[in-house]
Amino acid sequence: MALRGDLLDFSAAPAWGETESAAVRYRPAHWLLVEGGRIAAVQTEPPPEGWPRHDYAGRLILPGFIDTHVHSPQIDVIASYGTELLDWLTTHTFPAEARHADIAHTEATASFFLDALLAHGTTAAVVFPTVHKASVDALFAAAEARGMRVIAGKVLMDRNAPEGLRDDVVSGERDMEELIARWHGRGRLAYAVTVRFAATSSPEQLALAGHLCAADPSLYMQTHVAENRAEVRWIKELFPAARSYLDVYAQAGLLNAKSVFAHGIWLDDADRAALAAAGAQIAHSPSSNLFLGSGLFGWRAAEAAGVNVSLASDVGGGTSLSMLRNMADAYKVQALAGERLTAWKALHAATRGAANALGLENEIGSFEPGSTADVCVWDRAVGPVAMRRAEVARTLHEHVFAWMTLADERNLVESYIAGESRYARALSS
Ligand code: GUN
Ligand code: ZN
Repeated sequence: MALRGDLLDFSAAPAWGETESAAVRYRPAHWLLVEGGRIAAVQTEPPPEGWPRHDYAGRLILPGFIDTHVHSPQIDVIASYGTELLDWLTTHTFPAEARHADIAHTEATASFFLDALLAHGTTAAVVFPTVHKASVDALFAAAEARGMRVIAGKVLMDRNAPEGLRDDVVSGERDMEELIARWHGRGRLAYAVTVRFAATSSPEQLALAGHLCAADPSLYMQTHVAENRAEVRWIKELFPAARSYLDVYAQAGLLNAKSVFAHGIWLDDADRAALAAAGAQIAHSPSSNLFLGSGLFGWRAAEAAGVNVSLASDVGGGTSLSMLRNMADAYKVQALAGERLTAWKALHAATRGAANALGLENEIGSFEPGSTADVCVWDRAVGPVAMRRAEVARTLHEHVFAWMTLADERNLVESYIAGESRYARALSS
């Protein structure tokens, strides 16, 4: 089949602050040809006779967004009032996660969550389910049914968590081994060793997680680091011998090219150098960082140190699954820090940049021929204010920046996974 519209993707990483960038590939009124679920070509000529055609003339077509850090069970605590991180976990989040001991609940939530991602223009995600093995089975099964690229794993927590949400070193290892055997590398699914954060795993459990990563370098690793100042102080008390919070993970063997660290707000130069040397990534979660009052992420310093930075919703700390809303928040976080985030930098971080950081650049994140056709079609403007703003924009960056800032899931027209339509809203015109 073939889709026509205004194609926007990246051939490389745009430089910080550049509103005109050779890395931007904008191909208006082009056809995207999809064969066998993969991108076959991008061209101005229509496809050969007999190809099913979907004409989205005048609309933007982008690679589906990649959310590199999001919690499926926390869809039920999005927008919970009145707490910072540690309080928020005990007051709102742990009770919601405990409900996933119920298999029917965890299955229904997994399907709801993935459909919600698709309805927000996110086609791939790195996900925390819960400590319960069944929550991982449910999420992977639902992802497989939709053909989605999902990276996830059982949350490890053997201390400082309520009854019903704790595992132990032995059961955690057994569950992980079973889940890895069942799901890792099956279709578009991959397993991530999932340490909630250093406060909720004993040193023994951290070591176990590190051994698993070392034994199989194809496994991902995901956790939280240096999000909130009270959290950082607590980690210092729990691990007095570590040089820093990140160093707790490094010492346990959890810092490598497949590691995804959420937040990374309160890091120092040595931490950034260690992340860059390992080829690890920070999943910057601006909406969550603002909502929980966690702090302002130093994207420019991370970039200057050579650290991979991707973008994440971190729902339910974050207040929207929309990666566009998160990009708008990322711009505001940088503005508070005296920096300017271009639309190119933000969009790249949620597409090709994330794919690169995950080692998935041949599969997702761009319109390179051979990539899987995970593609989203967007209205350029919804509502009179956005429409008026779009009309007066003079340059491509001005137009796309206003779109990124004003758009949300209401702008989404259709989401394709491997060339199959998985979400479609009725076209307004
Ligand atoms: N740190 C440990 N657990 C969590 C979580 O669920 N969300 C966020 N934002 N930070 C965490
Ligand atoms: Zn998180």
